[in-house]
Amino acid sequence: MPYVVTQSCCSDASCVVACPVNCIHPAPGEPGFAEAEMVYVDPRSCVDCGACATACPVGAIKPHTSLAEAELPFIALNESYYGDFPHADRTPLAVVPRQRQRETSGLRVAVVGAGPAGLYTADELLRHPGVTVDVYDRLPTPYGLARSGVAPDHPDTRRVVDLFAAIESQAGFAYQLGVEVGTDVTADELGRHYHAVVHAIGAIGDRSLGIPGEDLPGSLPATTLVQWYNGHPDHRDTLVDLGHERVVVVGNGNVALDVARVLTADPASLAGSDIAPGALATLRGSRVEEVVVLGRRGPTEAAFTMPELIGLAGLRDVDVLVSGGAAFTGDSPKTALLRELSRRTPRPGRRRIVLRFRTAPVRILGDEQVTGVEVASTDERGRPVGEPETLGAGMVLRAVGHRVLPVSGLPYDDAAGRIPHEGGRVRAGAYVAGWLKRGPSGFIGTNKSCAAETVAALLDDHEAGLLPEPEGSLADVRAMVRSRRPVLVG
Ligand SMILES: Cc1cc2nc3c(=O)[nH]c(=O)nc-3n(C[C@H](O)[C@H](O)[C@H](O)COP(=O)(O)OP(=O)(O)OC[C@H]3O[C@@H](n4cnc5c(N)ncnc54)[C@H](O)[C@@H]3O)c2cc1C
Ligand SMILES: NC(=O)c1ccc[n+]([C@@H]2O[C@H](COP(=O)([O-])OP(=O)(O)OC[C@H]3O[C@@H](n4cnc5c(N)ncnc54)[C@H](OP(=O)(O)O)[C@@H]3O)[C@@H](O)[C@H]2O)c1
Ligand code: SF4
Ligand code: SF4
Repeated sequence: MPYVVTQSCCSDASCVVACPVNCIHPAPGEPGFAEAEMVYVDPRSCVDCGACATACPVGAIKPHTSLAEAELPFIALNESYYGDFPHADRTPLAVVPRQRQRETSGLRVAVVGAGPAGLYTADELLRHPGVTVDVYDRLPTPYGLARSGVAPDHPDTRRVVDLFAAIESQAGFAYQLGVEVGTDVTADELGRHYHAVVHAIGAIGDRSLGIPGEDLPGSLPATTLVQWYNGHPDHRDTLVDLGHERVVVVGNGNVALDVARVLTADPASLAGSDIAPGALATLRGSRVEEVVVLGRRGPTEAAFTMPELIGLAGLRDVDVLVSGGAAFTGDSPKTALLRELSRRTPRPGRRRIVLRFRTAPVRILGDEQVTGVEVASTDERGRPVGEPETLGAGMVLRAVGHRVLPVSGLPYDDAAGRIPHEGGRVRAGAYVAGWLKRGPSGFIGTNKSCAAETVAALLDDHEAGLLPEPEGSLADVRAMVRSRRPVLVG
């Protein structure tokens, strides 16, 4: 009875360390771990001890006999990974904590951003004796995209906040919530009052399409819709008009699939989830019948991950169809499933998600409000080359990824859109972690090994005596922050 990793894996590798027979791969440090969509259990080596299921913070590992019907494809997916990457060595992984030569007692660190990267950073720091970590966030509530990004129909993934709650209950941890660094307090001020500042504010810019009509009402970043349905203070009161039959989503990543699922879900299935009440009320009155997801390249290049595609294909109440002039050749699990979807036909009376490949928008149409989008077929690089065709739509969402924006006080590589750093170190005393460090890709758990690397760089600088002594006491800096934000939380 092997255990199976299912779709809500967020790649933090807790299971890998827990497994007594080293049968979960890729493991941190192995080729492919950083880019892996998930981890996989080798069914031939698993001894059914269940340790991985206990260790997993999001309930993603189950005995194969406990899988729901829609999760059954994960059995073959876990097994097929080992056909390509046998990982023959089953020596249990020994995780030996690195011994630090110097005292960490009294080390005082500010972490900016209480998202997954900020919290994993705090956790890594608090493994060392006597360290104090103040975690700042501009919002009055922590957890970043784990709260305001993860879709409400993925409650298992949202369970990761229980892990974050355990992190924040450790001695030495304190929140400074409702404080925007750069506005209420500057990074330089933090730098003077702490030994080190770790910036982990994520990738807060949205990418644009650069086509006419993009600024029309009804054309918006998918992030706005996500923040609306997740009750983020920036957009929970945004007026979202769903009084039309079709929504077009541009982009072929997991965010595109998230918004397509939420817009076509039976609102009754979302009641009782973490969805914002206003969004649920609007979804109850929605007239949307079809969501078309446009991928500018082909099925093989689609950025959405296999676990999310399996979840989509298994939806009970929604027809998931595939169209566009793409060839579904090849034997990868993704193309095989897309080929199967391309053979499905719509059933009357059901909402539809249509995955349309090799198609790009060239112009968003409308006068005072979006009425449609002109699309064209593309060449293999995703550039529109075909005759334009009009798709009627009342809303166009761009789910084309995010951007790292410059941070005051840190260098910025304009061409690459990145903060230059080495292993998380920007300079002694200033560090980056998470999406701000790596760019806007990866799962919640990917930020764990990322944070560990950054903290190692910070502690190396501390050991080398490179971190200047902070001005004043911790109480002084907290009082300064409180004087600027008298109603702050934390
Ligand atoms: C829509 C969406 C859905 C996702 N769903 C999943 C999923 O289901 N499973 C999964 O594994 N991964 C998912 N991801 C990816 C995952 O959310 C990211 O890997 C992760 O959140 C990145 O963590 P981070 O801490 O770097 O950034 P963030 O999560 O963005 O956290 C940054 C924090 O910094 C704060 N901040 C910003 N500016 C300032 C400032 N000036 N001062 C103080 N604080 C500031 C923000 O308020 C925020 O709390 C999703 C991503 C998106 C965009
Ligand atoms: N459930 C989950 O685990 C989950 C949920 C949500 C997000 N996430 C993670 O969060 C990260 C970000 O996800 P994301 O979906 O925002 O970004 P993403 O994975 O980078 O996908 C962006 C998509 O937009 C397309 N695109 C970019 N510019 C475009 C343009 N000008 N015109 C048309 N299409 C364009 C890209 O196509 P090209 O490839 O052709 O550039 C790609 O398909 C990912 O790592 C994702 O896995 C995970
Ligand atoms: S059940 Fe035990 S042996 Fe099997 S993958 Fe999980 S930890 Fe490893
Ligand atoms: S979320 Fe973490 S512990 Fe759970 S299956 Fe994925 S890598 Fe393993």
